[in-house]
Amino acid sequence: MHTPPVVVAPDLTLSAAAKVLDDNKVGAAAVLDGAGEVIGMVSERDLLHSVGIGHDPHTDSVEQVMAREPFTVNADDSVESALDVFRTHRFRHVPVLDGGHVVGILSIRHLVRVAHIEEVKPAGAAGAAELAPRGLEGVAVAETAVGDVRGEEGFFHYRGYDATELARRCSFEQVWHLLMLGELPTDEQLRAFRRRTVAYRALPEGIAGLLPAVAVLPDYTPLGALRSAVSLTAAAMGTQPTLDITAEQILEDALRMDALVPVLLMRLHRHHQGLPPVEPDPELGYAANYLKMLTGQTPDPVKARAVEQYLILTMDHGFNASTFTARVITSTGSDMGSALTGAIGALAGPLHGGAPSRALAMLDAIGTPDRAEEYLRREIGAGQRLMGFGHRVYKTDDPRSTLLREVAGEVGGDQVEFAKHVEATALRVLNELKPGRRLYTNVEFYAGVVMNSAGIPRDMFTPTFACSRTVGWTAAIAEQAANNRLIRPSALYVGPAAPRPLPDGYGISPAG
Ligand SMILES: CC(C)(COP(=O)(O)OP(=O)(O)OC[C@H]1O[C@@H](n2cnc3c(N)ncnc32)[C@H](O)[C@@H]1OP(=O)(O)O)[C@@H](O)C(=O)NCCC(=O)NCCS
Repeated sequence: MHTPPVVVAPDLTLSAAAKVLDDNKVGAAAVLDGAGEVIGMVSERDLLHSVGIGHDPHTDSVEQVMAREPFTVNADDSVESALDVFRTHRFRHVPVLDGGHVVGILSIRHLVRVAHIEEVKPAGAAGAAELAPRGLEGVAVAETAVGDVRGEEGFFHYRGYDATELARRCSFEQVWHLLMLGELPTDEQLRAFRRRTVAYRALPEGIAGLLPAVAVLPDYTPLGALRSAVSLTAAAMGTQPTLDITAEQILEDALRMDALVPVLLMRLHRHHQGLPPVEPDPELGYAANYLKMLTGQTPDPVKARAVEQYLILTMDHGFNASTFTARVITSTGSDMGSALTGAIGALAGPLHGGAPSRALAMLDAIGTPDRAEEYLRREIGAGQRLMGFGHRVYKTDDPRSTLLREVAGEVGGDQVEFAKHVEATALRVLNELKPGRRLYTNVEFYAGVVMNSAGIPRDMFTPTFACSRTVGWTAAIAEQAANNRLIRPSALYVGPAAPRPLPDGYGISPAG
């Protein structure tokens, strides 16, 4: 504020008042009565305006043109509340009182200067920055027509079709077509789609020779190696920024990547095992070809179908962290390869990609059916979580686990019966020891059992998930590119008050 305050008497002439403002280089003065009470404010604008409407500046007085009973603020009011007064009432100058006496004049310019230095808050719905819930839980950050999850109902869908029904009745290619092209294919469209995607399994020039080196890097993990291979492959394909290419070119990049990811993963796996890679079989669909590239053998159709159903069930699942990552990268106009590399990186985190192998490890630790109850009670008693139970979104049966239990049953085997026994015991014990928490079996419990019985090694469980999820990522990338706006949220700064002065003498010493 300007202090001491510039004040004038109500009977001062307009020309004398103009001189006071001019001499003090201020835009307004408080008008005080004989008792020192503020009764008005007079500004340069009031004086100019009064002359414009015919007042005589040499004879007419301040009292005739001043703003009466002005709004005031107190000396200890916050900058924010003062700004609010200016914003709401559109004043330019306000007297500042302390104990009823005017001690200064605050102008909008003082506040703007301070506001810039202290913090700039973007105008939210309520006019101030609001911190979104941690982890963005419950915040819708985009529109999507790819699919949705309804946790309370235990339902999720792809483009409106119940995903579990799709997994029960359709092939991987039919659902892949649905996600990428928007509709389930006719027979003729499906044949063309198969031909196209089988052709896309061919590695781009130069990649086959690079993969053995990636597969022997120290601290090899299948997902880390896949991330590197996807990046190399995108470079070899020359994927262009989504901002610069057509929707048809984006679709081509997407389908090629969807088709190549399992090929890359299996080649890396075989190189890592010291085995020669198995070329994709053009006669086999996605899932059967996946298993053949793993072992070199044409798989048992029941096992291939079980894996196919798992892959369909995991293609997409709402706005999860890796899908969001892919969309953020695409929102910058970047290319398909960059978005997929980022998405795989997000999936590699244990909080997201999870570990279906952990549920299997729990079954191993239990060992025999008679030990289940004692083991599960002990774990929960020790504050441990049972792997394969509970979900952030589903507060009822996870629809994926319901179907995978059936799928596991079709594949059969001792482990399935044992898993069913452990599941029933776990649900009973959880209900008793964690009442009201709504803990049900999640996707991971039977995913591990299904993949294990189909012969997929444990360290390939999450990478297998990455293959099917690539379809969901590429659908999200294409959708983002088609209706793009840069995703650029803000953060609430909570560090030391800025600007901080640098310590005296701190900096680069003068040359010499
Ligand atoms: C998936 C998961 C992370 C969701 O957690 P969340 O929604 O944040 O649930 P919360 O951490 O708020 O847990 C709520 C209560 O249920 C309990 N709970 C949640 N999952 C549990 C589990 N699997 N076993 C035992 N108790 C569990 C918690 O201990 C907590 O109990 P409390 O109220 O006595 O503290 C959690 O259920 C979990 O860790 N499950 C095991 C790991 C797993 O299967 N992951 C794969 C998920 S697809």
